[in-house]
Amino acid sequence: MGENILEVEGLHVEVDGKRIIEGVDIRLEKGESYVLFGPNGSGKTSLVNAIMGLPEYVVKKGFIAFDGVDVTSKSIDERSKLGMKLAFQLPPEITGVKLRDMLKVCVGLKHKDDLPDEIYGLVEKLKLTEFLDRDINLGFSGGERKRAEVLQMLVMKPKLMLLDEPDSGVDVESLKLIGTLIQEYIESSGASALIITHQGQVLEYIKARRSCVFMKKIVYCLSTPQEIISSIQLHGYSACLDCDRRKPKNE
Ligand SMILES: Nc1ncnc2c1ncn2[C@@H]1O[C@H](COP(=O)(O)OP(=O)(O)OP(=O)(O)O)[C@@H](O)[C@H]1O
Ligand SMILES: [Mg+2]
Repeated sequence: MGENILEVEGLHVEVDGKRIIEGVDIRLEKGESYVLFGPNGSGKTSLVNAIMGLPEYVVKKGFIAFDGVDVTSKSIDERSKLGMKLAFQLPPEITGVKLRDMLKVCVGLKHKDDLPDEIYGLVEKLKLTEFLDRDINLGFSGGERKRAEVLQMLVMKPKLMLLDEPDSGVDVESLKLIGTLIQEYIESSGASALIITHQGQVLEYIKARRSCVFMKKIVYCLSTPQEIISSIQLHGYSACLDCDRRKPKNE
């Protein structure tokens, strides 16, 4: 499997008996950031949930290999231990669990242990110090949730970040903060990222060369995210389907 961190081949996924993903192939190299665009309800979140192994997302056909290991039938926990991390589009509220304690769980510390200075540094950078002793996401604003999500992701030092709309509902300053920290982490660690975005704002900070449009399957691949954004703005998503039909088979 060479230098690919992620290989998804022929993936078909069902949720609640409904076929949501109909044949996806993705190859993501180590250190590469790859972008998925696509209209609402086209299956982008379902795809990253299936890659992470959420049990409702049932793989009917195909496989997912992560860092050379077939993880198709492995649990979320096993995938996470191998170095995969999902930052949710809509991070859930977790009543009764403080952000501080979740960070300890993320890095394998015990309840009585103190957080290391390195983590406090990141907490400060993400302007989350006053949130450490609050229940996770309870009463957090949309942007605060996204910052807390990125914090929990970065402390785990993942090899692959599945970033589901890291830029939605985030103000310009928080966007710069999140985007810059993720890109710095990618550059210093050689990690990879699969990024879902509608408008592509986060791509001002996270550098991605390859991208595609996803509509139950990958339908349209151009060389740069900017080309895809312009094409969608000019012609809409349905034009992607037309282009895909005209695309030579070997492209
Ligand atoms: N757990 C579930 N139960 C039932 N239907 C689901 C479930 N998860 C996803 N779906 C359905 O699958 C389809 C794809 O949803 P998904 O959330 O993957 O879309 P998306 O591309 O991420 O959309 P958006 O851009 O709005 O976030 C939708 O029609 C959605 O209602
Ligand atoms: Mg989604």
